[in-house]
Amino acid sequence: VRHLLGIKNLTENDIQLILGTAREFKDVINRPIKKVPSLRDITIANVFFENSTRTRLSFELAEKRLSADVVNFSASGSSVKKGETLLDTVNNILAMKVDMIVMRHSSPGAPHYLSDRIKANVVNAGDGTHEHPTQALLDSFSIQDKLGDVAGKRVAIIGDILHSRVALSNIFCLQKQGAEVMVCGPTTLIPKYINELGVKVSHDVREALNWCDVANVLRIQLERQQIKYFPSLREYSLYYGISKKMLDELDRPIVLMHPGPINRGVELTSDAADSHHSIILDQVENGVAVRMAVLYLLAQM
Ligand code: CP
Repeated sequence: VRHLLGIKNLTENDIQLILGTAREFKDVINRPIKKVPSLRDITIANVFFENSTRTRLSFELAEKRLSADVVNFSASGSSVKKGETLLDTVNNILAMKVDMIVMRHSSPGAPHYLSDRIKANVVNAGDGTHEHPTQALLDSFSIQDKLGDVAGKRVAIIGDILHSRVALSNIFCLQKQGAEVMVCGPTTLIPKYINELGVKVSHDVREALNWCDVANVLRIQLERQQIKYFPSLREYSLYYGISKKMLDELDRPIVLMHPGPINRGVELTSDAADSHHSIILDQVENGVAVRMAVLYLLAQM
C-alpha cells in the first residue's frame, strides 16, 4: 500500500508526475461537467484532528470530482473525546470498508505511525510542525502556472518558519525542482536545523523581497507556540509585515503567495493580500486539481 506522507522522500520525477497529472485534472474541473469516474467504488475518509478550511474542503471536492464515496470525521464531537486512541478510531473507520485515509493531526509523525499499522493508503493533510505535502505541491503548481517553471526561480518563505509544516514541505519541493530558497523571519522563528537544509537565511524582509521572484508569506502560528516568542504580533507586523506599497516599489515583478488562513494586518496588509501581485486564491483553486492527482495516482498503485 502506498502513501503520501511528505515531500522529503519523493523524487523530482514523482513531483513532476503529480503536477503533470494535476494539470490534466485542472482541465477536467474547468469543464461544464467537472466529474470523472476514476475513483468510483473507492471510499475515502477525511480524518481531521485539527481545524482546517481549505485542505479539508479541497480534499472533499477532489474526492467528489473523482466520483469517490466520502466520509468526514472531526475529532471534536467524536469518541476521541471519550478517550479512544488514534489507531482504534481509524481501525473502526476502516472496518466500514474505507480504502483511503486523508489525515490532519497536530502531532508530527502521526500519519507515519498510522501508515505502519493499517492496510489503507494514508495521505498526510498536515502533521503538526512537520510536513504539509499537498500544500507544497499546489504551491509549486501555482508557481508553474504563473512563471512557467519552478527551476531557477528564487522563492523567499517569509514568517514563522519554526512552527510551519508548509515551510518544510516547500523547501523540499522547491529544491528538488531546482529553485533557490531563502527563509526570512526573526531569529526566534527560524529553526536551528535550517543550516542543514541548504537555504539562504535573512532577517530583513526588504532584503528577501528584493531577492526573490516569489514571496510565500506565512502566518504566525500562535497555537503551536509553547512559550511566548519575541516578537509579539504588533512587533512582527511592524518589522516583517508586507504592504502593497512595499511590493509596488520593487524594481521587478513579484508573485505573492500565502497558504492561508491570512491574519490580515499582521503578516500582510489587506491591500497586499488583495493586490495584483497576489495569487492566493489561485493557490486554493489549484489545490483541488493537485489533490485529485495525488488520490488518483495512489489508487493506481
Ligand atoms: N493551507 C491550509 O492548510 O489551510 P487550512 O488550515 O484552512 O486547511
